[in-house]
Amino acid sequence: VATGTKWVLGNWKMNGRLASNQALLAALLTDAQVNVAHVGLAVPTVYMAQVAQTLSGQPMAWGGQAVSRFAADGAYTGEVNAAMLADLGASFTLVGHSERRQYFAESDEVLSAQIRHAREAGLLPVVCVGEGLAAREAGEHEAVVAAQIDGVIAALQGSERVVVAYEPVWAIGTGLTASLGQIVAMHEKIRACLLEKLASSCTILVLYGGSVKADNAADILALSEVDGVLVGGASLVAEQFSKVCYGA
Ligand code: G3P
Repeated sequence: VATGTKWVLGNWKMNGRLASNQALLAALLTDAQVNVAHVGLAVPTVYMAQVAQTLSGQPMAWGGQAVSRFAADGAYTGEVNAAMLADLGASFTLVGHSERRQYFAESDEVLSAQIRHAREAGLLPVVCVGEGLAAREAGEHEAVVAAQIDGVIAALQGSERVVVAYEPVWAIGTGLTASLGQIVAMHEKIRACLLEKLASSCTILVLYGGSVKADNAADILALSEVDGVLVGGASLVAEQFSKVCYGA
């Protein structure tokens, strides 16, 4: 990855089928350009083998959307641990996406365990934070995000690189993007929170997510406070995602 290259992560969420995945990956690989963006896809567990095989040797990483809070193999029906993701060739996993926090009640304790196990397995945890609309309207957005960071900071200690994705919940899947000013302000806050608590040798990357699309990505990625983007819906459409990654 070239220095200064920005990150573009796609989050497929619970979408995809073998045939549509194959078509999407083929189109993305046709458009792929090295050293333009550092691209990764967070894919459904059931399709990881397909994605791993298709992306093998290609300039595109893949990872999980979540990972078990349990590290060891064993009697945890329905769970997939970090070692399994690593075994298949994942390089990262999302942790603490707002949909996990909301629908699966993932607490700071659970997310901290996920972060620790991901790190132990050699996966990069991409920690998602972000406030809801009520908090934003009440002016509590910075406090909410700072508390989310505080809740997992112990699990991040000792990392060489920490990646946090700021995803305001009110901007996810709504078509409402945070303004450039809102993004800059929150990214500065997140970076300051991390810098205060992590070793100075730690590389910190802050990504933005929330209705990032082909037509707004360039402006967001141009911000020096933004190290990359995390893309949901638009990552399922090859033309959209390629444009986010590689420009027009
Ligand atoms: O993780 C990505 C995300 O939650 C943003 O989704 O659809 O608004 O790009 P979307």
